[in-house]
Amino acid sequence: MRIGILASGTGTILQALLDADLPVVTVIVDRPCAAVERAERAGVPVETIARDSFGADFDRLAYTHRVVDALERHEVDLVAMAGFGTILDKPVHDRFANRIVNTHPALLPSFKGWHAVDDALAAGVKVTGSTVHYATLEVDDGPILAQEAVPVLPGDTAETLHERIKAVERRLYPEVLWQLVRESDANDANDDKAGKA
Ligand code: GRF
Repeated sequence: MRIGILASGTGTILQALLDADLPVVTVIVDRPCAAVERAERAGVPVETIARDSFGADFDRLAYTHRVVDALERHEVDLVAMAGFGTILDKPVHDRFANRIVNTHPALLPSFKGWHAVDDALAAGVKVTGSTVHYATLEVDDGPILAQEAVPVLPGDTAETLHERIKAVERRLYPEVLWQLVRESDANDANDDKAGKA
């Protein structure tokens, strides 16, 4: 199993995946960000596929093809999104169907989208959480692999709440990815046995 990680932000989730010794073969970022140094420090090849626009003229399809090309060049089997700030188009889901995993800072299907933590606070929920799920073309909508609840505490700001959720994500996400790696290895071993019989 060869994992490619897509990241954009401070890269603390990426760091947790790197620290978990998962078989990560590349990190792809869409802008200059702290994730680049984290990957370099871990000795993992980084590709910056910079967006040329954040406006209405952004060519999402062409951008998606560039990401797919990079994933293919690194012979990636499983794509792990770690705070990647660009919604990718259909070609990546066609090429990696059921092989793209994401972590979302809320209990899906509640609070989809980029502002999940603010939205949970604004709604006044007492419990939110972390969801690891397969990513599909519909954003934050794919089959759920794991979830864990996180309490919203009196006086929470978006920052304090997000940090409490991220502490869970940094544990839960590597666990789920390792589970997928082990399942894939077991399937490969079964295929080998069947081939030899
Ligand atoms: C995480 O909460 C993840 O669920 C969301 O973006 C955040 C990334 O955090 N999609 P970091 O940049 O890795 O600290």
